[in-house]
Amino acid sequence: MYNLTGRRIVLGVAGSIAAYKAVDLASQLTQMGARVDTVLTEAAGRFVTPLSFTSVTGRPAYTDMFAASETAPELHVQLGHQAELVLVAPATATTLARLALGMAEDLLSLTALCTRAPLVVCPAMDAYMWEHPATQDNVARLRQRGALVVGPEVGRLASGHVGPGRLAERETILGAVRHALGQRYGDLQGKRIVVTAGGTQEPIDPVRYVGNHSSGKMGYAVAEAGRDRGAQVTLVTAPTALPDPYGVQVVRVRTACEMRDAVLEACRDAHALVMAAAVADFRPAVSAPQKIKRGTAEALTLELVRNPDILGELKDVEGLVKVGFAAETQDLVANAEKKLREKDLDLIVANDVTAPGSGFGADTNKVVILDRSGKREELPIMGKYEVAWHVLDRVAGLLEGRKT
Ligand code: CTP
Repeated sequence: MYNLTGRRIVLGVAGSIAAYKAVDLASQLTQMGARVDTVLTEAAGRFVTPLSFTSVTGRPAYTDMFAASETAPELHVQLGHQAELVLVAPATATTLARLALGMAEDLLSLTALCTRAPLVVCPAMDAYMWEHPATQDNVARLRQRGALVVGPEVGRLASGHVGPGRLAERETILGAVRHALGQRYGDLQGKRIVVTAGGTQEPIDPVRYVGNHSSGKMGYAVAEAGRDRGAQVTLVTAPTALPDPYGVQVVRVRTACEMRDAVLEACRDAHALVMAAAVADFRPAVSAPQKIKRGTAEALTLELVRNPDILGELKDVEGLVKVGFAAETQDLVANAEKKLREKDLDLIVANDVTAPGSGFGADTNKVVILDRSGKREELPIMGKYEVAWHVLDRVAGLLEGRKT
């Protein structure tokens, strides 16, 4: 389940050595549910074949606009008319120039000209070509017209030089596609959502901290699902090993106190807050300025003091939809209901962290969603992204109800 499901995407491939990476992109987009039609420039056909794309998409791949017209006379314009998103990856300097100037010299540039769908372009070329004012002017024009330009990244290029010109990473491109689709078709457009993730770290000294097992995956999944549905998402995250999701504003924090400050700030003009972070309830009373040495001590006693309850501090914020998470090891529903009441939440997502497939770091979760009215929605075990989607369905319903 992604916002790509059933979407008609035209993948334009231009003639760069990075063209081979487009086969993987086509495969990923297809696996995420999109219907991908590929259009290759003549130069792209020197690096990869239409058959490579047809093999992974199960759909036609085109190169020649005249040959295409022989089988279906309107095809040369139909691709553009029917597309819901046009992704050009890799985009060479020549293709960028054609797109910027509105030339329709080949099927790819023609398709980009006769579509009204969002355009995502991912440049890949030699660094000198990328940095040339001609290319920079073309890119600026495309941006000005609303195209999303993703990359290029700095790295080792085919020429052996190191510089800007590498095709953006696969995850970045897929994130940009989902972001662009959300901006055009999402049901949470115009909504500002704050999401927290990860486990806070409370310093003992400069090298040690009190922490927990949260991986951050659930919160990141909520942030991505919000983005995919068109919301403007701010992700306040404690340290995690996860990459920044494309199109999400990421605010990095470490401690519960830092998270509190960042969340209060971000919630000032937000419509909803989803607190998926595992916030430490206590922190060391003092954080030693220098590393604590082992010395000859047989024991070390840490004094812990209470951290602020972030959700508790937002009780008086009017109109904000508040969602909490309750990770429990016993009495799941009773404990979650108590938190829902005490923290004055609209929803609480409860999960038993000892259940199989539900623990910290897992890619799946099995949750029960409870609301103020006492209704319980028990979901089967599913991917964290799917859980996030269900939670946002409920948030969308609450936001709809709050419209006056
Ligand atoms: N939470 C918070 N501030 C805290 C602790 C928790 O905002 N200082 C939020 C969490 O992000 C989560 C919800 O409150 O959405 C419930 O967190 P949990 O740790 O389960 O609740 P606690 O109130 O800490 O209760 P307990 O530790 O006793 O289970």
